[in-house]
Amino acid sequence: MGITIKTEQEIRLMRESCRLLADVFQSLEEAVHPGMSTMEINILGDQLIRQHGCIPNFLHYNGYPASICVSVNDEVVHGIPRKHHILQEGDIVSLDAGLIYQGYHSDMARTFGVGQISDEAQKLIDAAKQSFFEGIKMARAGNHLYEISNAIAAYIDTFGYGIVRELVGHGIGTRLHEDPQIPNFAQVRRGPKLRPGMTLCVEPMINMGRADVEWLDDDWTVVTQDGSWSAHYENTILITEGDPEILTLY
Ligand code: MF3
Ligand code: CO
Repeated sequence: MGITIKTEQEIRLMRESCRLLADVFQSLEEAVHPGMSTMEINILGDQLIRQHGCIPNFLHYNGYPASICVSVNDEVVHGIPRKHHILQEGDIVSLDAGLIYQGYHSDMARTFGVGQISDEAQKLIDAAKQSFFEGIKMARAGNHLYEISNAIAAYIDTFGYGIVRELVGHGIGTRLHEDPQIPNFAQVRRGPKLRPGMTLCVEPMINMGRADVEWLDDDWTVVTQDGSWSAHYENTILITEGDPEILTLY
């Protein structure tokens, strides 16, 4: 359907949608602790979204059964919250969620440490985050989309980490997933030209070991094939005449 350019009014609604989501994430980060179940995170996140008068956009998306994706350690994304999955000190937990505010979607993800985590786990989390910032240095009107992909990949390659290829970032607006797809690995072509008013989700998924992933029998949970741990960092951004605006930052 092509990449949509948002009007000023749509951008205002996107900003508010994203601001509310960032507020939810701030509360979730403070709440995460050893002994908490992944289902408790989902229940809290769902409540926070609804308290803002918004709708969780992941719930029932293609049949996904929860409002917050909760993925622990070697789970890359789309982990299903479970009452009996208890977070342990030293785990890393990736939360991915979005909401709808007045018809406009927001989407973001973060990986948090549970209590004290290892230096190598922290290094992975920091690299996934920094790769996003390296990528969006290229997110400027007149540049081409895959300059973002290539910058993410070039940064991650310096660590020897695996970049997940099966899942990619995306446009966002009145739908959770709009064109274009945004790969996090190096591209041969340059992709579409970036223009002011595009709203994009840039979301590198980075494995400590190899890039390969597989799907569990629940048909949702994506895990690393080699069992290595994985980190995810995502924001919704706006392309402007100047620097990109990170709409879900907190
Ligand atoms: N996490 C995906 C994204 O960031 C969307 C997940 S949809 C769900 O684009 F159904 F798995 F929740
Ligand atoms: Co997304």
